[in-house]
Amino acid sequence: MKERLIIFDTTLRDGEQSPGASMTREEKVRIARQLERMRVDVIEAGFPAASNGDFEAVKAVANAVKDSVVCGLARATENDIRRAGEALAGANAARIHTFIATSPIHMEKKLRMKPDQVVEQAVKAVKWARQFTDNVEFSPEDAGRSELEFLCRVLDAVIEAGATTLNIPDTVGYTMPEQFGGLIRNLRERIPDSDKVVFSVHCHNDLGLAVANSLAAVMAGARQVECTINGLGERAGNASLEEIVMAVRTRRDFFPCDTNIDTTHIVPVSRLVSSITGFPVQPNKAIVGANAFAHESGIHQDGVLKHRETYEIMRAEDVGWTANRMVLGKHSGRNAFRVRLAELGIELDSEETLNSAFLRFKELADKKHEIFDEDLHALVSDEIMAHEQEHFRLVSLRVCSETGEVPQARVAVAEAGAEKTAFAEGSGPVDASFKAIEDIAHSGADLQLYSVNAITSGTDAQGEVTVRLAKGGRIVNGQGADTDIVVASAKAYINALNKLYSKLERAHPQV
Ligand code: KIV
Ligand code: ZN
Repeated sequence: MKERLIIFDTTLRDGEQSPGASMTREEKVRIARQLERMRVDVIEAGFPAASNGDFEAVKAVANAVKDSVVCGLARATENDIRRAGEALAGANAARIHTFIATSPIHMEKKLRMKPDQVVEQAVKAVKWARQFTDNVEFSPEDAGRSELEFLCRVLDAVIEAGATTLNIPDTVGYTMPEQFGGLIRNLRERIPDSDKVVFSVHCHNDLGLAVANSLAAVMAGARQVECTINGLGERAGNASLEEIVMAVRTRRDFFPCDTNIDTTHIVPVSRLVSSITGFPVQPNKAIVGANAFAHESGIHQDGVLKHRETYEIMRAEDVGWTANRMVLGKHSGRNAFRVRLAELGIELDSEETLNSAFLRFKELADKKHEIFDEDLHALVSDEIMAHEQEHFRLVSLRVCSETGEVPQARVAVAEAGAEKTAFAEGSGPVDASFKAIEDIAHSGADLQLYSVNAITSGTDAQGEVTVRLAKGGRIVNGQGADTDIVVASAKAYINALNKLYSKLERAHPQV
């Protein structure tokens, strides 16, 4: 029997710290249910002290998830830890993750604390956390740039105070694999009670080394890796879950441990996270990119046809690429619809929401005969948005686009219930639509990103549009899906406007 490598997913916390990736409570619960189905060991659901919204989201995840441990992040303060403890009260298995920076630059310039004060605060934090749960994780933030002697001192003290997992973050993605592996080995050798705790790592990808650093740490004895779906996360992101899991599985001849992940869920979860956060997956992304298993060159195709393993080290179906099968169609009934949603971990809050989602499904099935899981996720997102108290709502859109003519759009938008119409011309139908919407909303926001992806294959597929808007230092991503990509674009723009309008303020844990 190999040792277990614990997979700690932080998509809902560090992933959410990517600009514009913040998620609603319902979105977090949907992703958490999928992570649980994939058999992720620990789900970091958020930072409860960040805002009331995040507190409620962590609470909802804690109540919804039964099989994975649910974790909440807390700075090393009594208030943060109490909020985390309260948010996690309903969990089957809860963990509090508390942290404080230990590098000279962070202690002096950010915390303005002396090393002795940092040790004292870290110990207090772990003791506070132990009042809520005996599953306590401690992270010395910026460990990658901390002094070894001091790290040993802090970690020794927090073990004594009751920490059960020691997470070593390379917060700024600065270390090299050999160096980071060496750090883990050194810590394990020098700290007297190191065998009583689990060593974990949390690597950022600023130099593209997050996965390499994490795997070097696993070879040096780390038995928990913190990672995110699609490598989402602060700046260049975190180590990607799918790459860590598939490296350990594909090279089981090399690694001394194994994960419990059901890898066939990887691609569906990747798509769900991408569609909810509006962060598209690059085509050449390992494991989950559209080209990850595509063989373009004739030589490769010939080789794969003769013997798959000539060019493939993993099977596409093992990571869920076959999941894109038709699940429902035009003749499927309400019950089949409900059952499939339940299989996808989607629970609608009332019969009324289910009925209106089913009506949307029927409309979509009329336009598009094969309905895939990805379509159902997009449809449910639309349905949930429609039920939220939105400031702006798209009522109708008419566009005119013809070769040699200037594209035009006429849009009707309900603003706080009052319908308004506007007309605009633009360089294309999408540009004209956005200008018309802006004529009503007067947001003055800066459009930072516009991207369209086909949710499934075929020209009848729904287009999924992401619009990123920035205003006054805030960045939001809006999403919209429709078989008509101009309508999908207008929905995405309005979704982003609503997020800007909601002015949700949240604290950042590391600032
Ligand atoms: O990158 C980091 O240091 C973190 C900590 C809170 C673990 O995200
Ligand atoms: Zn981080």
